[in-house]
Amino acid sequence: MPLLCEAVGLPPGPRSRRVRHHVNPLKLEFLQMAPPPLPLPPGPVEVELGCADARFLFERARQHPGTSLIGIEIRPEWVRRVNERARAQGVPNVAAVHANINQDLPALFRPGQVDRFFLNFPDPWFKRAQHKRRVLDLALAEQLRELLRPGGELLFQSDVFEVALAALEVLERTAGLTNVCGEWSFCRQNPYGARSLREIRAEERGLRIWRLLFQRATAPQACR
Ligand SMILES: C[S@@+](CC[C@H](N)C(=O)[O-])C[C@H]1O[C@@H](n2cnc3c(N)ncnc32)[C@H](O)[C@@H]1O
Repeated sequence: MPLLCEAVGLPPGPRSRRVRHHVNPLKLEFLQMAPPPLPLPPGPVEVELGCADARFLFERARQHPGTSLIGIEIRPEWVRRVNERARAQGVPNVAAVHANINQDLPALFRPGQVDRFFLNFPDPWFKRAQHKRRVLDLALAEQLRELLRPGGELLFQSDVFEVALAALEVLERTAGLTNVCGEWSFCRQNPYGARSLREIRAEERGLRIWRLLFQRATAPQACR
């Protein structure tokens, strides 16, 4: 079976031994990445936004061998490592793509193509000065709704209450998305049975995890 990571390719630039801790997604180089549409095979598509080592996707790949599992990541060294792991372990349905979540999703996916988006532990910072850099804003939420198929799902998780509350407000305000756990409510469980590295670390430290599960409506809704 052809490997998805071979089709997606590696980001340009030299290989590095360390992964940078902080990246400013508003830097010009990250606003001009312009990735081509992804050559995905027929079948379900699930996307982790900001996948880092993609532990979540590799775990999910074992349970769902017929699903294409795509990680979007702005740090090229993670992209290399994920694709090298997929190749080395012969995991055919996981690939990482070097792209900016806030810029490139409409170039990568067709409207209605994605079955699930996972936004696991974005924005570990929460200082007021960094609010303008939050990944999930209304523009992104509306894009995700357009790229989801009707009935498709969006999972958001964070161990930072302020970040989760801001995400809840954005998603509740997005027409055409419905909160699966009840209006203005968090969910108790991660329903997917796969955990990201940050989720495991947070659980080991006994931190509370704030989870949101939204679904794209199957019929047009009135504006909220
Ligand atoms: C805190 S880490 C969480 C990683 C993983 N989802 C987890 O739960 O273990 C957030 C990741 O999102 C990536 N990221 C942040 N902003 C991004 C953007 N605009 N586009 C793509 N990736 C982004 C970071 O490089 C980082 O790897």
